[in-house]
Amino acid sequence: MEFSTQTTASLHQVKTAALAVGVFAEGILSPAADIIDHASNGALREALKTEFKAKPNTHIVLRNLPGVTAVRVILIGLGKQDTYNAAAHAGAELVFANYCVDASLVEGVSALASIDCNQSTLRARARAAAMAAGRATYQYNLTLGKQDRAAPPKLKKIAIWCTRAHAADAQSGLREGQAIANGMHLTRMLGDLPPNICTPTYLGQTAKKLAKEFKTLKAEVLERKEIEALKMDSFLSVARGSYEPPVFIVLKHTPPGAKPAAKNRKAPIVLVGKGITFDAGGISLKPAANMDEMKYDMCGAASVLGSLRAIAELELDREVIALIPACENLPSGRANKPGDVVTSMSGQTIEILNTDAEGRLVLCDALTYAERFKPAAVIDIATLTGACIVALGHVNSGLFSKDDTLAEHLLQAGRDTNDTAWRMPIEDAYQEQLRSNFADIANIGGPPAGAVTAACFLSRFTGSYPWAHLDIAGTAWRSGKDKGASGRPVPLLVQYLISQTS
Ligand code: BES
Ligand code: MN
Ligand code: ZN
Repeated sequence: MEFSTQTTASLHQVKTAALAVGVFAEGILSPAADIIDHASNGALREALKTEFKAKPNTHIVLRNLPGVTAVRVILIGLGKQDTYNAAAHAGAELVFANYCVDASLVEGVSALASIDCNQSTLRARARAAAMAAGRATYQYNLTLGKQDRAAPPKLKKIAIWCTRAHAADAQSGLREGQAIANGMHLTRMLGDLPPNICTPTYLGQTAKKLAKEFKTLKAEVLERKEIEALKMDSFLSVARGSYEPPVFIVLKHTPPGAKPAAKNRKAPIVLVGKGITFDAGGISLKPAANMDEMKYDMCGAASVLGSLRAIAELELDREVIALIPACENLPSGRANKPGDVVTSMSGQTIEILNTDAEGRLVLCDALTYAERFKPAAVIDIATLTGACIVALGHVNSGLFSKDDTLAEHLLQAGRDTNDTAWRMPIEDAYQEQLRSNFADIANIGGPPAGAVTAACFLSRFTGSYPWAHLDIAGTAWRSGKDKGASGRPVPLLVQYLISQTS
């Protein structure tokens, strides 16, 4: 995809296959719609009087308008003007991008970002426009037969209309949005791939491939022997039940031109992604219904890889390190079992009371490994608990942190990219539920507040740096007819990392 700005005041003379202009309910025209309406002798007002109510997520197509050069004008419904916001704008861009893809267009021009809305900048709206084009052009094909494959999207170019004074801002936003969209494509593809293809080894190969493609990235893929030498026995206890070998991925982004010894260099930010490429529950086996969806249990890892791809493309000026413990969680004669006590890399012993609470068992050792980087912040991303879906549904990711500054930065990054998180409690009072008679800590805390006790478990391994945990169990993929990975929370993470550059 190619993104650009279109800054002419004479919007009606823009040559394009499709021009998107927004209209509000109650017949209120956006400035761009007003230009087109004037040029076409009131064609838009006429349409609003008769067939178009301008509800959100609706559009109509007007062809060959007199006085208008664009082949088609797509009227996009924006809903009520007083409630119009950044999320509604992002939705409108998606309507247009989907239209362009469905109509097999090669290019289009959107004037939607030029409409002001509350608590949003043109840069953020340009970013949203590029992300919408990315979302609309994602296709999963790899394992589909020829007859089921959709034709590859023809859409290659989107321009957004803005004033010349705003063009530089818009360009920055488009560049960020494009990198985020490319990162999300990778994240969605890894999530959607079947678990017999997307194995721990495959995730390792993906990291190495990224390092080949981007010169700021360096990948190290540790294998079982090296993981054993690190004493990650909690992680290894989960991997025991599977024939697929575990890997521990370290993928580093070093800003271009950064001198390794520079004194004023900021400490790195570490992202830790849960990489369970299939979670059957282990001996504490899950029920059969929808178990296929547990191929998505590596979406934390996938979002971390997608985010590193994005910041590498942006040549982000901040050191970032991704850590991914990857394995399968399967039952077998060698699998870990309820009652086992394992010693984590930190030295703390863990009583495994439920082998299905495996995410925290692999993450805790990665969190200990993170200490060696003396990081400015560590953020782990995991499809950790069904309880988080009960608490927050599929709208917000769960955010847990004792560090108010870090938490606020992450929440803001989510708001800025329509990839929101909601802060959850993580007080010490909940730690009581993790008491064990036979180890320093138990791996489950009983039914109450399951998402919170999972976060509390992780917190025991994060004493030496500012830390936040994102539970993405409800946001990483969609179930049902449109089952598929969402690419979240790549936008939140990348926006956060952008905000942490000097
Ligand atoms: N990967 C699951 C969490 C999950 C469940 C994500 C459903 C998305 C949809 C995790 O490993 C798990 O099994 N968690 C258990 C924890 C419990 C045993 C304390 C859960 O949520 O049921
Ligand atoms: Mn599990
Ligand atoms: Zn899991």
